[in-house]
Amino acid sequence: MNEEFKVTPWDVTGKVDYKKLIEDFGTEPIDDELLARWERLTGSIPMMMQRKIFFSHRDLKWLLDRYEAGEKFVLYTGRGPSGHTHLGHLMPWMFTKYLQDAFDAPLYFQMTDDEKFMFKQDLSLKEAKSFTYENTLDIIALGFDPKKTKIFSDVEYIKTLYPIAIEVAKRVTFSTTKAVFGFDNSTNIGLIYFTSMQSAPAFLPSIEAGKNIPVLIPHAIDQDPHFRITRDVAPKIGYYKPASIHCTFLPSLAGSDKMSASKPETTIYTVDEPKVIRKKIMSAFTGGRVSIQEQKEKGGEPGVCAIFQYYYYLFEHDPQKLSEREQKCMRGEIMCGECKQDLADRVVKFLEKHQEKREQARDKIHDFVVSDYSAAYDKLKRPQDKKEVAKLKKTMKQYYSVKEGESIHIKNIKELDENR
Ligand code: TRP
Repeated sequence: MNEEFKVTPWDVTGKVDYKKLIEDFGTEPIDDELLARWERLTGSIPMMMQRKIFFSHRDLKWLLDRYEAGEKFVLYTGRGPSGHTHLGHLMPWMFTKYLQDAFDAPLYFQMTDDEKFMFKQDLSLKEAKSFTYENTLDIIALGFDPKKTKIFSDVEYIKTLYPIAIEVAKRVTFSTTKAVFGFDNSTNIGLIYFTSMQSAPAFLPSIEAGKNIPVLIPHAIDQDPHFRITRDVAPKIGYYKPASIHCTFLPSLAGSDKMSASKPETTIYTVDEPKVIRKKIMSAFTGGRVSIQEQKEKGGEPGVCAIFQYYYYLFEHDPQKLSEREQKCMRGEIMCGECKQDLADRVVKFLEKHQEKREQARDKIHDFVVSDYSAAYDKLKRPQDKKEVAKLKKTMKQYYSVKEGESIHIKNIKELDENR
């Protein structure tokens, strides 16, 4: 039970004790009172909050106070494009989509290609950009509203982000980043600075609106250290502290830890083919008994079973059916093979649909992506700038479209992806 675990933005290991994490990080649990308020406001409690997959927050009550006082908030989340998207990434993004719908909220989606380039020794900037493109397809495929969603890469939106980032950087000392992230003298200086880049989008909505706008950041709990710094700096530069809502990690098919790209055989990617998905699921850890006989007599242990976790997190929304499955397993009435088969069918069906939408997303990229080029383009309204417009249009086309063929060989993905 008291196994050691570690949660930092770049490293998650061991069996995470989320209760302890709330204490260590100093966040607040999402309690029944908050859930009741949520239901009053939105009409229902989403599955991921009911099941405590989203389990913790900062200043959510304050955010809802503002909302009830008529102040609309903006959502901000992000992705470190170091590899292909897997189911563990989709989870908070799906929740973010729910939030966008429930609160009719605009969304800023940051792709930290700079972060991943600087963090991963073997990842080139071109590869990070290429994954930015690939991951963006997954984000768009989830159905975000193009009129309300801006996706941007740090490298390509730097003119907009930099002035904000340096306001933050000026107010964060080396000793703070050392204490928060455990950096030392061997850490490259890009990473020491990076938290200011991740802070910037939290203030962008206010800057654009010319007045303070509340921001809610849905994210996996490992990113909290960044936003602790963001929140410390916020009042010093005249903005609201961003509120946040935190999720746990989708376990790997090996049954523990989070789903991680360092173990591709226990991780399901959105681009996996049905055959591969089935194979991964069929070899997942269930903790099942050594023989069918024994399984029938003693029953299974859903508490340690990876397959059950997948039903719990993503693939069985009906609480009644989930509990039936659990009971049946414990009574030895359903065997692991059948349970895996069922899950495989659901995951394949889900991903086949997702992949279709992912393909369609290729034509929608420019409805979502903002960049320094598009910002400049928007400013060019005079007809005599036709030449300039043509030039920018061309650059915009090139931007964000490092195509698969010309960029990376996906076979390298294992080596590329140490951690996620
Ligand atoms: N650093 C995050 C990652 O590695 C990406 C990110 C940027 C992010 N901004 C964010 C995640 C805001 C959540 C919320 O995945």
